[in-house]
Amino acid sequence: MSPTANWSYPTAIRFGAGRITEISEACAAAGIKNPLLVTDRGLAGLPITTGTLDLLEAAGLGRALFSDVDPNPNEQNLTAGVAAFKAGNHDGVIAFGGGSGLDLGKMVAFMAGQTRPVWDFEDVGDWWTRADAEAIFPNIAVPTTAGTGSEVGRASVLTNSQTHEKKIIFHPKVLPSVVIADPELTVGMPAAITAGTGMDAFAHCLEAFCSPNYHPMSQGIALEGLRLVKENLPVAYTTPTDLDARSHMMSAAMMGATAFQKGLGAIHAVSHPIGAIYNTHHGTTNAVVMQAVLRFNRAAIEDRLNMAANYLGIEGGFDGFYDFVGQLNTQLNIPESLAALGVTDPDAEAILQGALKDPSCGGNPIELTAANTRALIASLI
Ligand SMILES: [Fe+2]
Repeated sequence: MSPTANWSYPTAIRFGAGRITEISEACAAAGIKNPLLVTDRGLAGLPITTGTLDLLEAAGLGRALFSDVDPNPNEQNLTAGVAAFKAGNHDGVIAFGGGSGLDLGKMVAFMAGQTRPVWDFEDVGDWWTRADAEAIFPNIAVPTTAGTGSEVGRASVLTNSQTHEKKIIFHPKVLPSVVIADPELTVGMPAAITAGTGMDAFAHCLEAFCSPNYHPMSQGIALEGLRLVKENLPVAYTTPTDLDARSHMMSAAMMGATAFQKGLGAIHAVSHPIGAIYNTHHGTTNAVVMQAVLRFNRAAIEDRLNMAANYLGIEGGFDGFYDFVGQLNTQLNIPESLAALGVTDPDAEAILQGALKDPSCGGNPIELTAANTRALIASLI
């Protein structure tokens, strides 16, 4: 039997196969009587979504759905979602899906009671204190992928539809009140999404582990997260119905997002603008750039990755870890280059400008300058 547990760190988590059947109890725990389920268009008609709506309806909680959510959710999706929330007199959100459904759902619950524009709450200094905390509605997160970890995050990524910039919107009360982490919901993911989202979790753990910021709790979580991905992502990829592997990947995803409070780094700083400009899959893009960033950071992270390699059972220290990443990518059929990912004629300068502005920059072990980041991007092209 795959693992089952109830956790209260970093929020209340109902973990285990089949636990989506507890959705009405989760609503009661969060104080939600009239939920709006927010997901993306692709998921809206799938059995995992309609089945969840059936459970809500059977419990007398209605079956309200909002699914006008783009792969990179923007403020227009948010405005429409808030309008649907108000029109239905809802009192909370079930954020359902991968990163886009979770992030937009969390934002609808956050913004439905606010009067200021969403960009006023960007994760800059103490801007979050501008929000009326009493007017924030509760949300329940139900992840259907294992990668983003947004289900345990206090922020959402929202794309500005005019400038195509991705902004992080933060408030402590954006953290879901309850998470249902049910690995059965991830079984139907296409193999390429299992691979890409899983490599996002790996990148979160790796960058948190390598970040020089002091956060020993995150350091430990990141290391075990790396191990869970190493042991389970290839299994989940080749045997999609393996619930043990799917369970451990769900844990790794939540661990990655918990750990990256310590910092992210150049993998995300470079991957974000590539994704924003060329619409590539976030986690897959991380995987494509990962080895180049390891080379770039080598002088600052070699000792640390020697330790990690020992724990992970990888021989050869840093070099062994580096080779392992290459082998993992190959095993998961990750494209070997940006060109193979479909980015055939990249605008290096636009990627550079995006990378240098990205908030992930701050956690990189080697300071990102225009000169060294230009060289890093050139090594990818
Ligand atoms: Fe990520």
